[in-house]
Amino acid sequence: KEEMPRVKNIEAIEFGNWEIETWYFSPYPKPYTNSEKLYICEFCLKPNLSKEMLERHQTKCTTRFPPGNEIYRKDSLSVFELDGKHSKIYCQNLCLLAKLFLDHKTLYYDVEPFLFYILCECDDKGCHICGYFSKEKNSSYDYNLACILTLPPYQQRGFGKLLISLSYELTKRERKVGSPEKPLSDLGFVSYISYWATIIFPMIKEKENESISIQEISEKTGITHEDITLTLKHFSLILYKNGQYFINLDDQLFQKYIQKKKEAILIDPNCLFWVPHG
Ligand code: COA
Ligand code: NA
Repeated sequence: KEEMPRVKNIEAIEFGNWEIETWYFSPYPKPYTNSEKLYICEFCLKPNLSKEMLERHQTKCTTRFPPGNEIYRKDSLSVFELDGKHSKIYCQNLCLLAKLFLDHKTLYYDVEPFLFYILCECDDKGCHICGYFSKEKNSSYDYNLACILTLPPYQQRGFGKLLISLSYELTKRERKVGSPEKPLSDLGFVSYISYWATIIFPMIKEKENESISIQEISEKTGITHEDITLTLKHFSLILYKNGQYFINLDDQLFQKYIQKKKEAILIDPNCLFWVPHG
């Protein structure tokens, strides 16, 4: 394995209407590594070395949405499912783009074993990518997500949680439970803890006067026992008394997440047209 240079090679990208400062190194092939700035086509994700080259590319490029099946549409948001085997160039360009914002990630060219779920905001010009996640077709560990990214201009608007909720919706339709691939980045961890609490706490609160088991929560949400327990521990909600475990109902905290659930944009299952791959 080749050692990765730690030094950022590309400082910024021009992407659609955005100029985005990059975070990390990405192994774009030559000649793209010689440029401090890349001009990336926002529809097909092809990198270009100059504004002029991008403009020339755009006179020929007919792509207006990610080359796959639209599996979700609600209001102006759509999700496209791409098979790394069938949309190889697009998925490779997506991974190279994503690496600019991901510290640890090794997948760039070997995209065939993965499916990609691309979240777009659509208007009359086309479908503009906001973020995506990838998923291994056959994960031996029940990982339901390999890598997740919200492009920086779209971050902290709830799209991360929306993508995470899609990953669990797919898992539920597969009649499975799932968990994201480890290690998570700091931002990945914060987003997951918040998603898990947003889903789990209102369920616990609803059953306040009855009991609800971790098994039942897991079956209803697709979240693993481990991740449910991790979330309860993270907020110090697990009590051990007389040889038994109890959930400490912290009312303020629960109200906070009931509110977050009301405000969250989560996947609307009625707008998701997807059945498990045979
Ligand atoms: N600082 C503090 N909290 C942050 C944050 C930041 N920079 N970015 C997101 N969060 C919190 C949000 O406040 C929210 O929690 P809340 O609802 O309890 O307030 C939660 O994380 C999810 O936010 P959301 O807007 O849905 O997520 P996002 O669209 O910003 O996407 C990531 C989250 C992880 C996908 C995004 O940060 C990203 O792409 N990071 C770079 C790539 C990466 O690290 N991916 C994970 C690899 S495992
Ligand atoms: Na947010």
